[in-house]
Amino acid sequence: MLVAGNWKMNMDLTSARQLATAVVSEVGDPGPVQVAVCPPFINLDSTFSVLHGSPIRLGAQNMHDEVWGAFTGEISAPMLRAVGCHYVIVGHSERRRLFGESNEGVNRKIIQAQKHKLVPIVCVGETLEERDAGREVAVVSEQVRASLAGIHNADGSELVVAYEPVWAIGTGRTASPAQAQAMHAIIRRLLVEQFGSDTGADTHILYGGSVKPGSAAELFSKPDVDGGLIGGASLKADEFALIVEAAGEVA
Ligand code: PGA
Repeated sequence: MLVAGNWKMNMDLTSARQLATAVVSEVGDPGPVQVAVCPPFINLDSTFSVLHGSPIRLGAQNMHDEVWGAFTGEISAPMLRAVGCHYVIVGHSERRRLFGESNEGVNRKIIQAQKHKLVPIVCVGETLEERDAGREVAVVSEQVRASLAGIHNADGSELVVAYEPVWAIGTGRTASPAQAQAMHAIIRRLLVEQFGSDTGADTHILYGGSVKPGSAAELFSKPDVDGGLIGGASLKADEFALIVEAAGEVA
């Protein structure tokens, strides 16, 4: 089980430190659950100094696929490593939709992330229009195949997949546990095809999209749901801690 908080473009220096401090104390010892928070780039360094020595890991929300050079405004994988990141979210639907990220670009980022010992949290998910047209399986399968083309994943710990139906992100509308499980099973099959049955089974597949303390336990109880990528509810330490607790009960 893995629960990761995606803070998105929220929190300034002071409030990020406060939130990280509260998360460390509210989550306490998460037992078998792996926990991470992903603050904005500018707050990674200060958040790491709060998390250091706690079981909570640091993640970034994005990265560039080159290591250094003339890419004004961008941040690279070794820079993220240097400030203590363990994870990096790649291909979030907001990046795909608002910043034009493609599966091919996501694939390049995954390669670079792994080269620098970061664990990419690779996001996939269909829009409402695609689901209404009955194309959700085709869309998500293509995202998984193309994003992960040629990627390695020795023992299941070198990458994470997050299924986030776009229509459930920030809308208060969660996919039903059955809808989540159905898509997670399809993603699992693709991971098994690519990496073999043991590694495919051991790779975390997170669900994301309006996960709240009240909905987490039932989602996490599904066999192929290995935790959550939490947006809104990760900005409140007590709610985030309750979601971690729900994962712990299933783990
Ligand atoms: P949400 O965001 O929990 O606010 O829906 C999830 C995400 O976008 O990762």
